Amino acid sequence: LFAAVEMAPRDPILGLNEAYNADTRSNKVNLGVGVFFDDDGKIPLLRAVQAAEKARLAAMPARGYQPIEGLAAYNQAVQKLLFGADSQLLAAGRVLTVEALGGTGALKVGADYLKRLLPGSKVYISDPSWENHRALFEAAGFPVETYPYYDAATRGVNFAALKAGLGELPAGAIIVLHACCHNPTGADLGVAQWRELVDICAARRLVPFLDMAYQGFADGVEADAVAPRLFADSGLSFFVSSSFSKSFSLYGERVGALSIVTAGKEEAARVLSQVKRVIRTNYSNPPTHGGAVVAAVLNDPALRQQWDEELAGMRERIRAMRSSLLAKLQERGVQQDFSFITQQRGMFSYTGLTAAQVERLKDEFGIYAVSTGRICLAALNTRNIDYVADAIATVVKG
Ligand code: LMR
Repeated sequence: LFAAVEMAPRDPILGLNEAYNADTRSNKVNLGVGVFFDDDGKIPLLRAVQAAEKARLAAMPARGYQPIEGLAAYNQAVQKLLFGADSQLLAAGRVLTVEALGGTGALKVGADYLKRLLPGSKVYISDPSWENHRALFEAAGFPVETYPYYDAATRGVNFAALKAGLGELPAGAIIVLHACCHNPTGADLGVAQWRELVDICAARRLVPFLDMAYQGFADGVEADAVAPRLFADSGLSFFVSSSFSKSFSLYGERVGALSIVTAGKEEAARVLSQVKRVIRTNYSNPPTHGGAVVAAVLNDPALRQQWDEELAGMRERIRAMRSSLLAKLQERGVQQDFSFITQQRGMFSYTGLTAAQVERLKDEFGIYAVSTGRICLAALNTRNIDYVADAIATVVKG
């Protein structure tokens, strides 16, 4: 049966973990996957999460099946984070939210539902985008193309090209947008640019799918929600996938959500009924623990405040690592201008390192990065940053 099965290539991001784990060098550093580590190199278990978990353990809740769409208290809390506690959209019942298995799971449920809704449509992702976007939408049966986004010369967004590209798309085209902390480039749109982009989507009748995996990692929970809120004001229908992997440091619990903004309450009920069919035929209903913990934190004012502070701490540590890496590269006499490291937002820096330089980092130093040159700043710490700066300086100097 399996005699002719070929070996699939390693995943471009998670495959790096496999290679890193197999590396026996004690000074190895994993700058590949987007995971936040504290200064001791550990994935933190947030204090707000610990408090919610202790309470949950003490209550010893039964583990019955969840509703297909997940926990209502969780889904409502997600909606408030995305659209604001006093959102008109929520008051009008225009949004449906389902708990999903991380941001990836939310994208997949959305993609599978869109394939049923718009079977002949195409999906457009930014050039470049998170590697799994293409794979995931292709796996859902869509042809996937790109729209212009990053400008390597300015290290920012080529907004004129982006607008021109979107202006050519046919009505019903699905465009995947990074709501904040663009992965992999860290180059985000400004508020005025988002406004223009919303207008283009409305004028061309595009179907926006916002991927919001890093809310709180750029400027804060509210400030980072500008994109979903501007789309909300536009009256358009759109999709949002969101995740608590990073913001709650709950990677392995797979806690995410898919929210779909519809024209009204009755429409939302019909769409929800269809999305539930997608979920039921995939994994039936989501697991209990992660969503219950997130809901407990977000729905308790004291824990919510604690989470805000812990999230700010993660954000600030990444910023400090950005400044420190830039300073250390300069100290090592690197001629190339790396100042973009402190301007990019979120966990990543799109360093401009070539695939060959990334390969040297791995082979000679045991430092793992994505072959596109993306590094995760949140894996740097006060003990490994000199080693990483030395290594980068060596490979860029040739
Ligand atoms: C990443 O881009 O590294 C993260 O989103 C983790 C993943 O699933 O790829």
